[in-house]
Amino acid sequence: MPTYPPEPFRIKVTESIRLISPEEREAALKEAGYNLFSMNAEDIFIDLLTDSGTGAMSQEQWAALMRGDESYAGARSYHRLKAAVDDIFGFKYFVPTHQGRAAENILSACLVKENQWVPSNMHFDTTDANIRARGGRPANLVIDEAFDPGDPHPFKGNMDLAKLKAFIEKVGAANIPFGMMTVTNNAGGGQPVSMENLKAVADAYASNRIPFFIDAARYAENCFFIKQREPGFEHKSVKEIAHEMFALADGMTMSAKKDAIVNIGGLLCLNDEMLFEQLKNELILREGFPTYGGLAGRDLDAMAVGLYEGLDEAYLSYRIGQTAYLAARINEAGIPTIQPAGGHAVYIDVLAIVPHIPQSEFPAQAMAVELYREGAIRGCEIGSVMFAHHDPDTGKMIYPKLELLRLAIPRRTYTQSHMDYVADCAARIKARADKVKGYKFTYAPELLRHFTARFEPL
Ligand code: F0G
Repeated sequence: MPTYPPEPFRIKVTESIRLISPEEREAALKEAGYNLFSMNAEDIFIDLLTDSGTGAMSQEQWAALMRGDESYAGARSYHRLKAAVDDIFGFKYFVPTHQGRAAENILSACLVKENQWVPSNMHFDTTDANIRARGGRPANLVIDEAFDPGDPHPFKGNMDLAKLKAFIEKVGAANIPFGMMTVTNNAGGGQPVSMENLKAVADAYASNRIPFFIDAARYAENCFFIKQREPGFEHKSVKEIAHEMFALADGMTMSAKKDAIVNIGGLLCLNDEMLFEQLKNELILREGFPTYGGLAGRDLDAMAVGLYEGLDEAYLSYRIGQTAYLAARINEAGIPTIQPAGGHAVYIDVLAIVPHIPQSEFPAQAMAVELYREGAIRGCEIGSVMFAHHDPDTGKMIYPKLELLRLAIPRRTYTQSHMDYVADCAARIKARADKVKGYKFTYAPELLRHFTARFEPL
């Protein structure tokens, strides 16, 4: 069993959680139409739905909230955030946004035209949707190893360079307003991208004059993996690695709800002055004045502090260790997960546990419900509920390659005994997995149906 450093913090404030009875859980499931998004948070014991905005702020961040300057324009809070953003990311210009998707929306609104393409290793679903909302087409060109859950490749988030070059050739650089890389690759298992791969991608974009934007939601976790796994980086600090990474790009979008350990916030950074002027106008229309971008002054201060805490190596070592520990404990129970463990989450390979449930009966959804039933634990289905769709040409149903249950770990929130509890519950499901049954929809909207669908057990 991998060991990891003890939490590099102690607990000063607590938030009670309670485990309701199996009968109450059954009633709550039924009431929610077996959709965990429709449940009341108070009926959840361990909430692993997302690591986004769910982390615990430090005493320094809470103290920073009190210093928030709520001036409409030019607030001190903005300047404190600017100092941190300049120091860590090093782009010429930046604006705060209320969260990651707002940065994606503004960037797409300014750059994407009808039928243009935006390549990436893998777009997160909000990035995908924001590109599509402007008539653009996202393309995912991650290496093939990403789709083999058992493959232990250390940088499974890497871009397939041959695919990228062929893609640019095929659609033409003029039809690519910008290119992206998501670090770490959330949609592909929280897997990191190597510096070597980032450099090659940056070269491919630059030699075709395609601006390069990094989706930096989990950049600190990615940089820590580089330090651990990529030769030549073991003696560099995570901050130095981050400098090297962002020096390769023309800009970045970031959901600060992840590696900046705040409950709300985002960033959009770039070097191009003309584009910055355009983005600012779009920001004023959609989010707010450029020195607060849809946030309160206090939120900017919490982010300024959290950005540094997210880079702290004692914290990252515990953080990445905790995720690896949960994965190993779940594997020990005979349940396969995407290998190696990602940074922010453990992804259970559901088809390996309930092979008797066809994809048309939502195996990952069945597993998500079962984990709630067993221990009031909430994970997130990443399978047919989220991704199965009709082929627009043939009308045939297309199913995703993998059926996953993501257990995302909020930052600095749960202890090792919580992780042991989750693994023990998963092990008990494994023991009775052949009796787990599938589900059918009783209601499903056309788009983003996983949020509001209702189900019935089969
Ligand atoms: N990019 C990545 C890689 C993300 O994981 C997310 C959000 C976003 C962008 C959008 O940021 O939520 O602040 O608007 N991921 C969350 C998750 C929701 O659960 O994985 P946002």
